[in-house]
Amino acid sequence: MSETARILAVGFTITTALVVVVAFVVALSTNRGSMDPEEAAHRERTWLWIVLALMGALLIATVFAIPYFDDAEGAGRQTVRVEAFQFGFRIEPDSVAAGEPVEFEVRAREVNHGFAIYDSRDRLVLQVQAMPERVQEVVHTFEQPGRYRVLCLEFCGSGHQAMVSQLRVTR
Ligand code: CUA
Repeated sequence: MSETARILAVGFTITTALVVVVAFVVALSTNRGSMDPEEAAHRERTWLWIVLALMGALLIATVFAIPYFDDAEGAGRQTVRVEAFQFGFRIEPDSVAAGEPVEFEVRAREVNHGFAIYDSRDRLVLQVQAMPERVQEVVHTFEQPGRYRVLCLEFCGSGHQAMVSQLRVTR
């Protein structure tokens, strides 16, 4: 299982458990059978605000952890410019250091391409769309040195399958 899949699975499980617990507590505390209707309505409104406040707190606590805000600022910053074209990749530089964040600036010359990096065991490491008139930025930190394969994952014409390149990751 990939790390992303693990994070999603754990997050989904925790969220589901929390929702079930909160629903159960609310159902118990607002049981109208034995309670004055006004008191029950008041409790329901209180619970509504508690749940809204919890959701707001969760949003604020987690929204900045999503990867779209990543960049490679700082001492170990490495930038790699990628241009995808029919039919190949220009990757400058084509060698980066492991353990430091790499910011890829991905462009396409004429049509949409895919920019995908595979490790030495052919596992997908990273994939973004390469689009004309747009710079797609993505940050990744390589943990393992070695040779990584770069492939196009978007059908882009008669030479699509020839779009194969390399990235070296050094210590
Ligand atoms: Cu470029 Cu397929």
